[in-house]
Amino acid sequence: MYKIIKKEVLNKDIDLMVVHAPLVARNTLPGHFIILRVDSEGERIPLTIVDIEGENVVIIYQKLGYSTNLLGRLNVGDDIYDFVGPLGKAAHIRDVKSVLGIAGGVGAAPLLPQLKEYSKRGIKVDLVIGARSKDYLILVDKYKEFCDNIYIATDDGSLGTKGFVTDVLTKLYQEKKYDHTIAIGPLVMMKFVVQLNKKHNISTDVSLNPIMVDGTGMCGNCRVTINGKTFFACIDGPDFPGEGVNFDELIARQDYYKEEEHICNLRLVKK
Ligand code: NAD
Ligand code: FES
Repeated sequence: MYKIIKKEVLNKDIDLMVVHAPLVARNTLPGHFIILRVDSEGERIPLTIVDIEGENVVIIYQKLGYSTNLLGRLNVGDDIYDFVGPLGKAAHIRDVKSVLGIAGGVGAAPLLPQLKEYSKRGIKVDLVIGARSKDYLILVDKYKEFCDNIYIATDDGSLGTKGFVTDVLTKLYQEKKYDHTIAIGPLVMMKFVVQLNKKHNISTDVSLNPIMVDGTGMCGNCRVTINGKTFFACIDGPDFPGEGVNFDELIARQDYYKEEEHICNLRLVKK
């Protein structure tokens, strides 16, 4: 059992939790993730490790479906049944002089540890962060601690540029050059960021989150196609160079269990 030490509501859909998990905390590197189960019957939820605070692990989750909503009902002092990790490959930190992070919505959470690591190594770091509206922007104050420049986009124009992160990038690339970027957010965002960056000859690492079950390379659910070859996001990733990723296949598979998810959500309303 893993005790919840702290809980913070970041917005109406997203919470932050600090969980006591010393063995996970001791071995975590930027890019690693955990899989948790709320109870013994629970679905397995993969979440990127956002930060380590001593013996505790910081996670951020969006209450999208049945299991993440159940997780959101837990409070400080409650226990999480399973909390397995660190899983996955640590992110590849490249030998570059400047990096631009590109975060969409809750993607700002998995991006934070990687961008922070670049900054720790003395590399110049900027951020473009986008969300539906200003109320959905998360972690901006945390990014302010180490980013040189932060550019904000909101779909409704309630803060920063009105539009998507790609609108900000198009303008930014007229003034600035970066050696490398990391984009994490909705698949469609990562797809268009990679397309835009290709035109500007800038490399893009992306973080992929297909459906996962075991998280150890055995079930094959998390397969992704990169340059025509199959990889497993749980053991080969979740971070990959974005250029060869077949985003359209991932986008199509994302909706595979929509009906089952809807039925489960109706069960939750009745609980
Ligand atoms: P969202 O749908 O609110 O979008 C966030 C931002 O992404 C938008 O404000 C916009 O700037 C950008 N965006 C969206 N569509 C775009 C498009 N067509 N072109 C260019 N930019 C676009 O995001 P959300 O509801 O917070 O969802 C975040 C997504 O990130 C979820 O789908 C989740 O699966 C995914 N996610 C990924 C990881 C990962 O490790 N890869 C981790 C957590 C979440
Ligand atoms: Fe089963 Fe990756 S989650 S192989």
